[in-house]
Amino acid sequence: MSDRYLKFVNTAFGKTAAQSLGLPAPVPLKRWKRADQPFIEGDVLIGAANSSKAVSTVGKVLGASAAKLFHASAMDTLNDSSKSGNKAEALPLNTDIDGKFSALVFDATGMKDTTDLKAVYDFFHPTIRKLAGNGRVLVIGQDPSTCRQPAKAAAHQALEGFVRSVGKEVGKKGATANLLWMAPGAEQQLESSIRFFLSPRSAYVSGQVTRISKGATAHASNPVAPLAGKIALVTGASRGIGASIAETLSRDGATVIGLDIPPALEDLQKVMAPIKGKAMACDITDEKAPKQIADFVKEHFEGIDLVIHNAGITRDKTLGNMPEHFWDMTIAVNLTAEELIDEELMHQEL
Ligand SMILES: NC(=O)c1ccc[n+]([C@@H]2O[C@H](COP(=O)([O-])OP(=O)(O)OC[C@H]3O[C@@H](n4cnc5c(N)ncnc54)[C@H](O)[C@@H]3O)[C@@H](O)[C@H]2O)c1
Repeated sequence: MSDRYLKFVNTAFGKTAAQSLGLPAPVPLKRWKRADQPFIEGDVLIGAANSSKAVSTVGKVLGASAAKLFHASAMDTLNDSSKSGNKAEALPLNTDIDGKFSALVFDATGMKDTTDLKAVYDFFHPTIRKLAGNGRVLVIGQDPSTCRQPAKAAAHQALEGFVRSVGKEVGKKGATANLLWMAPGAEQQLESSIRFFLSPRSAYVSGQVTRISKGATAHASNPVAPLAGKIALVTGASRGIGASIAETLSRDGATVIGLDIPPALEDLQKVMAPIKGKAMACDITDEKAPKQIADFVKEHFEGIDLVIHNAGITRDKTLGNMPEHFWDMTIAVNLTAEELIDEELMHQEL
């Protein structure tokens, strides 16, 4: 959707014109703009099924945020967990609810079978229309593959379809709905996902399921710049999606090496200059490319943490109309080059 159409359709005249012509009328999405921006603001309503385990982590993360918290039922664990932060105020769901919520967060980890899904309805039915534009729905369930009882696994599996359909329902106003499937005992690993899915960083990300395992992943020491100290290579970074990836990684603290074909070097340098990245001109299908890339990394840095293989081409013909050289070219640029670059970087342990 072009920015020009988005601007037009959000004027009074544009809205009426789009409605009468049956054209889509997307709302502008709230984006992550500044490093010091709070990850969430406004009123946030928290709910939980009985015996749910993630709610104290939710309380801890949101208790330290700029949001005003409400809870849908008596939840001592929620307020116990945010001792130093803001406390959640009780908000009975059977009363008329004023105002709008910037997020609705429901911890369903306590569900034992499909009859417990009623708690999901009880929480969302009276509140879903109260979700603000660009609002966030976040549901936390237990990863079904970790449920011993089939009845329990079925209840938690059902959350996936629920979140996808809520995502469609609220998507019209730029809001999102996502699901975290947590392994038992993985509460400590939830924080970065809660922050991401409630923040404008996740504009566009909706109807998605993220599995959170107990693994001993190190926590990002800086939630505002989680990639601080990391070196990232982004191929095809002179324009389009690659340029945006480079800017986003830099925004999140990474140092970026942008790579593109030699004719795109000038454009690449324009993208790299404001983010203080390094520009590398290289055709990834060149047989010398893997070694050149590894040498470039070695020359400037001690190693590499992230490789974003974004460079790619499409030759959109039907299979029947596709000449062989289009097939070969697409596979060479989109798959084989990446394989060889990865091999070289791993071989050199960069
Ligand atoms: N735009 C879409 O809707 C869409 C949808 C699905 C997938 N993709 C994929 O996402 C990626 C980025 O999409 P985009 O729309 O920004 O594409 P784009 O064509 O605007 O940008 C691709 C970049 O990759 C570079 N590139 C191409 N071949 C290269 C090579 N051999 N060596 C080095 N650099 C090379 C190009 O110079 C260009 O800067 C592509 O891989 C594309 O196939 C895009």
